[in-house]
Amino acid sequence: MGIIGIRTATLLLAALAWRSVLVAAAGEADGVFNVKDYGARGDGTTDDTKAFIDAWSAACGARGSSASLLVPAGKSFLVGPARFSGPCASTRIIVQVMGTITAPPPGAWSGQKYWMMFYQVQGLTVTGGSTGLLDGRGRSWWWSDQCNRYGDIYKAPTALVVMNCTDVELSKFSSKNSPQMHIAVSQSSKVHLTQLTTTAPWDSPNTDGVHIDQSEDVRVTRSTMGTGGECVSIGPGSRFVTVDGIVCGPGRAVSVGSLGKKGATESVEYIDVKNVQFINTSSGARIKTWQGGKGYARSISFTNINFTNVDNPVVINQFYADPYHIPNMGAVAVSNITYTNLKGTSRYRTAVEFVCSESGSCTNIHVNSVAITFPYGEALALCQNAQGDTSGYVYPKIPCLR
Ligand SMILES: *[C@@H]1O[C@H](CO)[C@@H](O)[C@H](O)[C@H]1NC(C)=O
Ligand SMILES: *[C@@H]1O[C@H](CO)[C@@H](O)[C@H](O)[C@H]1NC(C)=O
Ligand SMILES: *[C@@H]1O[C@H](CO)[C@@H](O)[C@H](O)[C@H]1NC(C)=O
Ligand SMILES: *[C@@H]1O[C@H](CO)[C@@H](O)[C@H](O)[C@H]1NC(C)=O
Repeated sequence: MGIIGIRTATLLLAALAWRSVLVAAAGEADGVFNVKDYGARGDGTTDDTKAFIDAWSAACGARGSSASLLVPAGKSFLVGPARFSGPCASTRIIVQVMGTITAPPPGAWSGQKYWMMFYQVQGLTVTGGSTGLLDGRGRSWWWSDQCNRYGDIYKAPTALVVMNCTDVELSKFSSKNSPQMHIAVSQSSKVHLTQLTTTAPWDSPNTDGVHIDQSEDVRVTRSTMGTGGECVSIGPGSRFVTVDGIVCGPGRAVSVGSLGKKGATESVEYIDVKNVQFINTSSGARIKTWQGGKGYARSISFTNINFTNVDNPVVINQFYADPYHIPNMGAVAVSNITYTNLKGTSRYRTAVEFVCSESGSCTNIHVNSVAITFPYGEALALCQNAQGDTSGYVYPKIPCLR
C-alpha cells in the first residue's frame, strides 16, 4: 500500500471515529434515539422491525438518567412481532410513540403470541403524547380462515405486553383493532396506565382493553375502552389494583377473573374499582370463577359506578362458563366484596346476579346504595348462596342478604 493509501485510510478511520464521537455526544446530549436514524422508513409497507430493535438497543444501552426512543409523528411504521428487553443502562427509558405503529398481516407472525413486548425493564414510560396509535389490524384475524384454521381464537396475538417490568407508565396513546387483547400486564409491579383509548368492534373476539395478571400495584385511570372483550380484566395473581375513571363500552365489563379453571388455585385481592361508566356492555361490575377451583377473590370494591343499558350490571358467578353445575365441587372463595353507590339502567330484568355455590364460599358481600332500574318493569336480583348485608337504599331488593 502506498503513502496516499495509508493516509486515506487513516483519515477515513479518524472520520469514522469522529462520527461515532458525534453520534454518542448527540445521543448523550439529548438522549433521543429516533427510529428513523436506525433506518426506519415509516412508509407503512417497509418492515421497520430491525430499525426499532436497533434503536431500542441503543436507547437501552445509553447511560444516564433517561433515554428516549422516538417514533416520529406523521408516519406509519410497519413493525412485526418484537421484544424490547431490559435491563437497561439508563434509569428510565421513554418510548415516545408520536406516529402510528402498524402490525403485519397474520401470515407474518410465525406463531408469535404477542406483537410488541417490553420485557424485564425497570423504569419505562411509553407515551403517545395524544397522537400515538398502535394499529393491530385485527380484522384479518377475527373472522378469518387463519383463525378458523387454528380453530382457536386464543391463538391470536396480544398487541402490547408488559412482562416482568417494574415502575412503568403507559399513557396518552390509542390502540385499535388488536388481534386479541390490546394491553396485557404480567409479572410486573408499579404500573400506571393512564389516558389510554382502546377500540375494536363490539363483535371482535376477546379484544380486551387491559388484562392484568401476576402483578401488583397496578392502576388504570382516565381511560376509554370500547372493544369486543373486557374493558379491564383482572386475572390470577393480581393484588392492589385500582381502576379509576373509565368509560367502558361497547364490550363486556370490568371483571375479576375468571379464576380456578380446571381446579386451579388462583387468587386476587385488594381490587378497587371506582368512577366507572358502563355503556351498552354485557356486564359491568363482575366477578367470575369456575366451579371446583381453589384460592380466593377477596377485598374487592366497586364504588361510584353507573350503568346505561347494560345487560347484567352486577354479577358474581361461581359457575362461570361451566356447562353443568356439579354439586359439592367447591369453589374459589369470594369474600369481602363491597358495592357502593351504583346506579343506572339494566337492559335485562335481572340487574343483580349473585350466583354462588352451595359450598358457602360467597361471604361478606356488602351492598350500599344501589339503584339500578329496568326500563320496562320491575328489576330483579337473583341471589343464590350469598351471605352479607345491605345498607341505604337498595333496588332491586337482594333477597339473600341481610
Ligand atoms: C424478572 O426480572 C428479574 C430482574 O429484573 C429477574 O431476576 C427474574 O428472573 C425475571 N423473571 C422472569 C420470570 O423473567
Ligand atoms: C357516570 O359516572 C361518570 C364517572 O364517575 C360521571 O362522570 C358521570 O357524570 C356519571 N353519569 C351519570 C348519568 O351519573
Ligand atoms: C347503545 O345502544 C343503543 C341501542 O341499544 C344505541 O342506540 C346507542 O347509540 C348505543 N350507545 C353507544 C354509546 O354506543
Ligand atoms: C375488605 O376489603 C377492603 C377493601 O375493599 C379492605 O380495605 C379491608 O381491609 C378488607 N377487610 C378485611 C377484613 O379483609
